[in-house]
Amino acid sequence: MFLGGMMIAAILVHLLVLGQPGVIGIMGAMEVELDLISKDMVVEKVDTIATKIYRSGKIYGVPCVMARAGVGKVGSAQTAQLMITQYGVDAMIFTGVAGGINPQLDIGDIVVSSNVVHHDFGQILPDSFISFDTMGFFADSVLVGLALQAAGNVELHAIPEEMRGEDEEPKIILGRVATGDQFISSEAKRVWIEETFNADCVEMEGAAVAQICATNDVPFVIIRSLSDLANEEAEVDFEAFVLYAAENSSLLVKEMLKLLGQ
Ligand code: ADE
Repeated sequence: MFLGGMMIAAILVHLLVLGQPGVIGIMGAMEVELDLISKDMVVEKVDTIATKIYRSGKIYGVPCVMARAGVGKVGSAQTAQLMITQYGVDAMIFTGVAGGINPQLDIGDIVVSSNVVHHDFGQILPDSFISFDTMGFFADSVLVGLALQAAGNVELHAIPEEMRGEDEEPKIILGRVATGDQFISSEAKRVWIEETFNADCVEMEGAAVAQICATNDVPFVIIRSLSDLANEEAEVDFEAFVLYAAENSSLLVKEMLKLLGQ
């Protein structure tokens, strides 16, 4: 309880020193990844810039800007930079779905980014790949703390029966996110990403957002719920579970915003 209070105080101080008051950027690649959150937004302004819609307003009293970035690194980098330059966001939260890379994870489980890495940025040699992203990007510890605190409060949708292993409730872990401009539906590639990057999940935007945030000194965290396991069934699983997974990720982000709005 005391720790929780201190954590929120730390977050507020963190946001207040960065700007008065802190504006949170909320990004997703697809509308379905933002729907549940945007329902709770009191919208004050809507702009369309370079074909994308930016909604500004408040969620649970917290000033926010929300935009759908589109799928992939270019669109998400563009949106992230615009949110920072044009809307002055003080912190960025990306919410959405991902493919599972860590074999311990199931559809519906959530990865809170500890760090994020580009998996498709490098040099291809006849028999190997040299990554040009040697360090990756570290998520902000205060935002990560906020997500983990929210994890203690959030009520997620149970894992669909047909996908259930031992657990009924989705797990929330702190892990590494791998990003590339590729939808992964290959077990061989899943294993390669696991072995090369020690990643927990794969998606198509996080590292681009992280890179933009890092170079602008804006704290970020990526929240991802698994819609598929990045294997040969990924396309079918994605269709079946994208809404379920997107909502679980949104539920965690909503809980983070509720904590910030307290
Ligand atoms: N987002 C959701 N599932 C994915 C996958 N298998 N590969 C890349 N991005 C994803």
